[in-house]
Amino acid sequence: MTGRIHNFSAGPAALAEPVRERLAAELAPRADGRPSVAEISHRGKAFLALAEELEQRLRDLMGVGSEHAVLLLPGGANLQFAWLPMNLAAGRTPAYLISGHWGRKALAEARRIGPAEVAGSSEAEGFVDLPELGHLPADCAYLHYTGNETIHGLQFERPPALAVPLAADLSSEFLSRPYPYADLGLAYAGAQKNLGIAGLTVVLIRRDLLERIPDRLPRFLDYRTWVDSNSLYNTPATIAWYAALETLRWIEDCGGLEGMAERNRAKAARLYAAIDGSDFYRNPVAEAARSVMNVPFWTALEDQVALFVAEAEAAGLPGLKGHRALGGLRASLYNALNMDAVEALVDFMGDFERRHG
Ligand SMILES: Cc1ncc(COP(=O)(O)O)c(C=O)c1O
Repeated sequence: MTGRIHNFSAGPAALAEPVRERLAAELAPRADGRPSVAEISHRGKAFLALAEELEQRLRDLMGVGSEHAVLLLPGGANLQFAWLPMNLAAGRTPAYLISGHWGRKALAEARRIGPAEVAGSSEAEGFVDLPELGHLPADCAYLHYTGNETIHGLQFERPPALAVPLAADLSSEFLSRPYPYADLGLAYAGAQKNLGIAGLTVVLIRRDLLERIPDRLPRFLDYRTWVDSNSLYNTPATIAWYAALETLRWIEDCGGLEGMAERNRAKAARLYAAIDGSDFYRNPVAEAARSVMNVPFWTALEDQVALFVAEAEAAGLPGLKGHRALGGLRASLYNALNMDAVEALVDFMGDFERRHG
C-alpha cells in the first residue's frame, strides 16, 4: 500500500479529519494538567455549556422547535427497539414497515413487549425493493420504518405520508441530507455513523406523545425522565457528546445538510455507475430504492469475497466486507467519507476485475 487509507466501515465509521484532530487535541497530555472533557463532571459549568450547544446545534440542523424534545441517550438503536414500544404502544398496537434486517429486528423486539403488526414488508422478494404500505391497525400507536437499511442498502426517499405518528430508525442516514424531522413523532440514531463516535443515541420525540407513556416504567426507560433531566439523568459518555458537537460544527462548515446531501449524492452516483457499468459487479436493489449511504454489492463469484476484502485492505481500503447476515461486499459512504475514497474504490474495483474477472 502506498497512498492514504480510506475507511468504508459501516459503523463505528470514519470520522471527519477535523473532528479527529479536535478529539486528539482534547485527549492529548497537557503541560498545565488541565483536564479533558473525559475527566470533568457532567454537572459542571463547562460540560453543561457543551450540552446546551450540542442540543441547540442539533435542533438548528434538524429544523425542530419546542414541540419536539431532543434527547441524548445511552444504549444505541437496539435499546430504542424496546424503549419505543414500552413508552408509546401502551394500550395500542404499533405497526412496522419492514425493508430489511433492522426493521425486522425492531419488530421482533416490539413483539416481546406486546402485539405489533406488519404494515408492509418486502422480505418475500429478498429486500430488493421498498415495501408497499398496507393495512394499519385501527388503534395504531405509531408506524415504525427504517429510513435507511444499512445492511440491505435500501432507503426511503421521504417518510410515509400518514396521519399516525411516524417513528423512524434513522441510524444510518441521520444528518446526511435535509429531512422533514419536524414531521416525525419520534426518530432515533446512534452517533457512531454520521455524528461522531459510539456511546450516544439521539432521540427526537414530539412532546404530546409523552402523555401516552404508562406509569411505573423503570425510571431509566421512561422518556420523561430524560426530558426532565435535560438528558443528564445519569453519567453520559462525555467524550461521545464532545465528538458529536465537533461533528456538528464540521457539518456546518461543509454547508450544513444541503452540503452533506450534495456530497453524498455525488459519491453514491459514482459508485453505482461503476457497479452498473460492469458485468462483474452487481447490486440487486431497485434503482429508486437504493441507499445513498450503504452500497452492498457482489462480484460474479461469491467465493471471491474474502480475496476482494483482503486485497482491498492491503490497498488501503478497509471495511468493505458485507454484513454477516447478507454476505458479499458493502461500501458505507457516510458523511465523513470524501469523493477521493470513492474514486480509490472504483479504481481498485476495476483493477480487481481485470485481474480476477
Ligand atoms: C438502521 C440501523 N438500526 C439499528 C442499528 C443498531 O444500532 P446500535 O448498534 O446503535 O444499537 C444499526 C447499526 O448498524 C443500524 O444500521
